[in-house]
Amino acid sequence: MLIKSDLKGKSFLKLLDFTPEQISYLLDLAADMKAQKKNGVHHRLFEGKNIALVFEKTSTRTRCAFEVAAADLGMHPVYLDPQGSQIGKKESIADTARVLGRMFDGIEYRGFGQEIVEELARHAGVPVWNGLTNEFHPTQILADFLTVKEYFGSLKGVKLVYMGDARFNMGNSLMVGCAKMGMHFVACTNKKYFPNAELVEECKKIAAETGAVLEFNEDPIAATKGAHVIYTDVWVSMGEPASVWAERIEDLTPYRVTKEIMENAGAQCRFMHCLPAFHDLNTTVGKEIYDKFGISCMEVTDEVFESEASIVFDEAENRMHTIKAVLAATL
Ligand code: CP
Ligand code: NVA
Repeated sequence: MLIKSDLKGKSFLKLLDFTPEQISYLLDLAADMKAQKKNGVHHRLFEGKNIALVFEKTSTRTRCAFEVAAADLGMHPVYLDPQGSQIGKKESIADTARVLGRMFDGIEYRGFGQEIVEELARHAGVPVWNGLTNEFHPTQILADFLTVKEYFGSLKGVKLVYMGDARFNMGNSLMVGCAKMGMHFVACTNKKYFPNAELVEECKKIAAETGAVLEFNEDPIAATKGAHVIYTDVWVSMGEPASVWAERIEDLTPYRVTKEIMENAGAQCRFMHCLPAFHDLNTTVGKEIYDKFGISCMEVTDEVFESEASIVFDEAENRMHTIKAVLAATL
């Protein structure tokens, strides 16, 4: 396994900072390490390294992916939970960065504005990895793209339709990722939820070089025809107030992923979701929404979520393999 030197010491803050070749390299490294792990080959190449995992928002996948990946690589991870550190409350981001940078070889950060993780990276003196901000979720896209490659063989030309709130971290990051990798990205939603216009302009410039196609379409039937992947995410993201639920449900119900939408796309179509998903009533929030609005699923029906076309758990597993590649490539 070759660990390329041009990413050494580099932070992983957003896909805009990486070339298509670097993204491809990370995906290949992840596939390689995944195969090694499945074959019982150990890769404890980073014994003695310590990494900090700072979470200002909760997590299941991202936290576990970083912890398992670090352990597999022989590193020691230290988790700081949303209440467990002074960050931002009693100590500035710049001061926290300088403290953590003295003790750790790298820092993962999940939190609110993208500017926070960028500031952390400016002051830490060690690589910083974005574990989700309001604007971007770049490690998720690596997992998504590894999964797409596993199912479709390549990324180029793959039509990925994102339905729902396309203005937040997932819609933005998928648009950037698709632009970089020469894919066909469609934001299929109410125009209030199209990605930020400035970011769209930036992605159009990237697309002009890579051959990617970017589309913005309010009509779910026209938009999903022939899709290889239909992707969705929660309608209300972490950090948003509960008061927006009513409006979101009204605006985004036409963009729920249903059996009819999957059939309209065609038999080749796979369903993807970064998770966690509201597809049944087995969650506290799902039950609260049911009591208030009378709906038993939100962004995706249980039928689609549980169908053969759903590859969400492969995608979740790939969080670990791709995050491992990011750690190995940048440390
Ligand atoms: N997809 C994802 O980031 O999941 P977590 O919030 O559980 O980390
Ligand atoms: N948009 C979601 C993604 C969760 C992985 C959120 O920010 O809550």
